[in-house]
Amino acid sequence: MAGREPEMKVLVVGGGGREHAIVKALARSGPDVYGVMGNPNPGIRRASKEVLLHDVTDIPTIVAWAKARGVDLAVIGPEAPLAAGIVDALETAGIPSMGPDREAARLETDKEFTRDLMREHGIPGLVEYRAFDRLEDFREWLREVDYEFVIKPLGLTGGKGVRVWGDHFRTKGEAEAYAKEILDHRIGGRPRFLVEEKVVGEEFSLQALCDGARLVPTPIAQDHKRAHEGDEGPNTGGMGSYSDPDHLLPFLTPSDREAALATMRATVDAMARRGTPFKGVLYGGFMATRDGVRLLEYNARFGDPEAMNVLPILEDDFLGLCVRLVDGNLPPTARFARKATVCKYVVPSGYGVRPKAGAPIEVDEAGIAKAGAELFYASVEEKDGRIVTTTSRALAIVGVGASLPKAEAVCEAGLRCVKGDAYVRHDIATAKAIQRKIEHVQKLRGK
Ligand code: GLY
Repeated sequence: MAGREPEMKVLVVGGGGREHAIVKALARSGPDVYGVMGNPNPGIRRASKEVLLHDVTDIPTIVAWAKARGVDLAVIGPEAPLAAGIVDALETAGIPSMGPDREAARLETDKEFTRDLMREHGIPGLVEYRAFDRLEDFREWLREVDYEFVIKPLGLTGGKGVRVWGDHFRTKGEAEAYAKEILDHRIGGRPRFLVEEKVVGEEFSLQALCDGARLVPTPIAQDHKRAHEGDEGPNTGGMGSYSDPDHLLPFLTPSDREAALATMRATVDAMARRGTPFKGVLYGGFMATRDGVRLLEYNARFGDPEAMNVLPILEDDFLGLCVRLVDGNLPPTARFARKATVCKYVVPSGYGVRPKAGAPIEVDEAGIAKAGAELFYASVEEKDGRIVTTTSRALAIVGVGASLPKAEAVCEAGLRCVKGDAYVRHDIATAKAIQRKIEHVQKLRGK
C-alpha cells in the first residue's frame, strides 16, 4: 500500500492520551482519520472526519463501520481490542492493521506465554518464575521460598494487577490472600497466576515499531505508575513520563539499552520462528538492576503515557512508517529530535483510590499553546459546554525542550493553564526526582 498516504483513510481505535498522540502524529501527513472510542475525547473528535462512540472491544461493529467508510489502514491504541482479536477481524475484512493479531498479542495478554517463550528460546533478561492454579501448591511453595517475589495475574488488569513484596504486601499470609483473590475472582481473566522473583532497580520503557522481523526503536522513557508523589500510593495506568535528549535515561548506560534491545530482538525472532510474527508496537518494560537488565513485561502497543514522549519528537513521517510496518518493510531506523520530553497527567482527585468524576476542569488551550506545551486529551466528558472529569486520567500536558529541566518547565507552564479539582504528580522529572533515580542505580551498581 506504499505511496497512498496523503489521501488515505485511517481508523484509530481508542480514546486516551496515547490515541490523541497517535492522531496528532498521523495528522502531520493529512489523512482522513476515523476514530472509534468509548469516551468522547475532544482532541480526537476535532481531528477526525468522523467518530464512533462505542465499546472498542465490539469487533463486528467496528469492522463493519470501518468497511462502510472505505478505511485503508487501522492503528490500534489499547490492549483490550487486541486481546479481543480486532486485528484478525480487520485483516480478514481486508484492512491492514498496525497492531498484532490475537496470537502475537499474547506477549502482553498472557504473561506465562511470554516467560515460557523466553525460557524455550534462551532469551536474555528472564527472571525466575512459576505459575500456579491451585492454592495448595502455592501454599507449599510459600513454605519453602526464602526470597522476595512478585505476584502477577496472567492477563490484562489495566496495569493494576501486579503486587510486589515490600510495596503491596509484606507477609506470606498477605501473599496467600492475594493469590486466593486472583483464583476466586479470575483477576486477569483466568484462575491462574504467575510468581516471579522480585528484581530491584529502576524501571524503563523501550518501545519499538516492528514489522514481524525488523525492530525500529524509539527513545527510552520512564513512566511513574504510583499515584502519589515520591512514588507512593497505589499503582495506576501511569501518572507521567519523561525522556532525555540522548534517547537514553540519566541512570542508564548504552549497554543497558543494547541489552534491552537484544531481549526484544530475540523475542521478535522467536515469534517469527514459531509462525506467529509480531507486527505493531512492542513495548518492553524493563528493570535496570545491579547486574544488568531484566524484562518485567511486554505490552503489545504504545505505552500510555510513553507514546506522548516519542510521537511528538518523531521527525520521520508517522503515517509512512505505519504503512511500511503493515507492508513488512520498515526502514532500519527512525529519526527523533534530540530533545527531552516531560509528560504529566492531570487526573481526577482521589485517582487510584476513589476518583472523583464529574468535576469541571478549565482547559485554556490557547494558554497551553502559548506556553509551548502540548495538550493531549484522555478520558473526559463534556457537560453544558464544560469539560468534566471521569474516573480515569483526564488529560496530559507535554513539554519538549533542549534539556530535561527545560522540558519540565514547559510542561509545568502548560499545567498552569489547567484549573479544577484534579491532581498532578508535579514531582515527575524534577531535578530532585531524577537525582534520586541516578543515585539509586549508582548505589545498586556499587559506583
Ligand atoms: N505505561 C504503562 C502502560 O502503558 O501500560
